[in-house]
Amino acid sequence: MTNNAQASTPSGSAIHPAPMNVLITADQLQKRVIELAAQIDADFANETPVLIGLLKGSFIFLADLCRAVTIPHLVDFMAIAAYGGGTSHSGGVRLLKDLSVNITGRSAIVIEDIIDSGLTMAYIRRLLLARQPRRLAIATLLDKKSRRETDLPIEYVGFEIGGGFVVGYGLDLAERYRHLPYIAELDLTAAEEIPTSE
Ligand code: IMP
Ligand code: MG
Repeated sequence: MTNNAQASTPSGSAIHPAPMNVLITADQLQKRVIELAAQIDADFANETPVLIGLLKGSFIFLADLCRAVTIPHLVDFMAIAAYGGGTSHSGGVRLLKDLSVNITGRSAIVIEDIIDSGLTMAYIRRLLLARQPRRLAIATLLDKKSRRETDLPIEYVGFEIGGGFVVGYGLDLAERYRHLPYIAELDLTAAEEIPTSE
């Protein structure tokens, strides 16, 4: 399947068109989200955890997950930015927006779209553990496990995938493709880089 939308990169060039293959369908996503929600219901049955969405990539996953979870819970957001902003991680992470809920003594579940090297999540985890939550768990829709550069406990994984670059269901390439209801893999090698005035 191909998509003719242009994706512009932070450097001002455009990748056009970026061919894509559907990797995980909308149906598969919905089914898996319901399974993860059932696990969270069971594991946090007598608690009121805070579901912490990491902006922006997790917004659709979190929206679906929190409506499938039936135990009482709170929803909050954090925003972090990886230095660089391209298709790979450069190592540095910066906090753009902090929580508004105090998680000290509370249970919290960090909700992420994808874990790649794990460096972003390791940073978030350290930051949140320093606030002494009662319990801190990690949920990620996608796990590029083979690319991990640091040890991370991850309690909830939607799908383990390979190392290719994926978009859709919240995940972007340079802010494009977040709205796709499925996860697609972009063929970046086949994408032609052309200059743009953006
Ligand atoms: P990590 O710190 O290397 O684990 O990178 C995690 C972040 O990189 C994610 O939160 C995403 O923002 C981004 N990322 C990694 N792989 C992909 C991908 O395949 N598509 C879209 N974003 C990705
Ligand atoms: Mg992200």
